[in-house]
Amino acid sequence: PDVITVQELSNRMAVRGVDIIKFLMRQGVMLKINDVIDNDTAELVATEFGHTVRRVSDADVEEGFLAADDHDDHLEVRPPVVTIMGHVDHGKTSLLDALRSTDVVKGEAGGITQHIGAYQVRLQDGGRITFLDTPGHAAFSAMRARGANITDIVVLVVAADDGVKPQTAEAIQHAKAAGVPIIVAINKIDKPGADSTRVINELLQHELVAESLGGDIQTVEVSAKEKLGLDELIERIQLQAELMDLKANPDRTAEGVVIEAKLDKGRGAVATVLVKRGTLKRGDIVVAGAQFGRVRALLNERDEQLTEAGPSTPVEILGLDGAPSPGDAFAVVENDARARELTDYRQRVKRDKAAVGGAAAGVSLTDMMA
Ligand code: GTP
Ligand code: MG
Repeated sequence: PDVITVQELSNRMAVRGVDIIKFLMRQGVMLKINDVIDNDTAELVATEFGHTVRRVSDADVEEGFLAADDHDDHLEVRPPVVTIMGHVDHGKTSLLDALRSTDVVKGEAGGITQHIGAYQVRLQDGGRITFLDTPGHAAFSAMRARGANITDIVVLVVAADDGVKPQTAEAIQHAKAAGVPIIVAINKIDKPGADSTRVINELLQHELVAESLGGDIQTVEVSAKEKLGLDELIERIQLQAELMDLKANPDRTAEGVVIEAKLDKGRGAVATVLVKRGTLKRGDIVVAGAQFGRVRALLNERDEQLTEAGPSTPVEILGLDGAPSPGDAFAVVENDARARELTDYRQRVKRDKAAVGGAAAGVSLTDMMA
């Protein structure tokens, strides 16, 4: 990108945001932590702070699933990561649940009760698809934007009886901004008031031209409730993924993103993470946001213990010393000392941020994407 926020720059240089702000102030530039600066100014700042040790891990810097030093012959095909987006109540979670039921190796009926925001479906042909849920309320639009950031494909859920709504439009914008292809799932076609043609016409106003109108946007009619159209939706996702030639290097220490995290009374900190590259193993020392710990257990959405998790795999990890924030980067580090160094730095950044007033004042989109 041509611009960078002060926050992002401070993360990358491992320099406090306030110090950058002070430096810029002396140059006559008044900026806040979430403001953006252009490349030239960023370079000037970087030169000024040039002797500072870089402590931030690659996962904070590199986006996507490929690292700068991954060579072609290291890369292997990985499952697509699909984020479900759409307006409140249009059926995102229901669709996720319905899709999960298509898993060929799903456990006993009723075996999966808890809702988690990420899981992988295993398909008849041996393929896999990773699905991420996103919250439906406007307050979480920043989270959704971030979801699109680790996403290969967006499935946009539009209720056939309700049509395109503000958060549908917002989701379209986020997907477009992130350059992620959209597949439209027209949901609730079982309902009496369902009108797919209306949905397709309303999408036109957002420059999404359906294939049925000669455009390139795939639309699929589904009913999460009646489990209609699910196979077709999965087929479309697989076709799209093949076109995209999705790959990652499984043969390096793992890096990825925290999807959600909580403190569980019995189990301690439980973080659901998505591995972007490398392979996460039980026993690895992990830094996630401002937290760290040795991975005591790796669990999939069926609560099955795994010994390792490769690219595109969502997995619960136990063993962190606290709950990181959704969207935080995680990375495996070589030892405890390194982990402490990183988390100390990040906790300092967090405190500084709060002191600057950024955290309390609400989170900007740019901030969440950083
Ligand atoms: P938020 O997460 O709150 O934004 O909602 P959501 O998009 O995840 O929607 P959710 O899956 O919670 O579904 C909302 C309501 O629509 C629920 O009452 C579902 O039972 C209902 N619903 C979802 N899919 C269908 C469908 O295909 N047909 C019918 N008739 N109802 C559906
Ligand atoms: Mg939901």
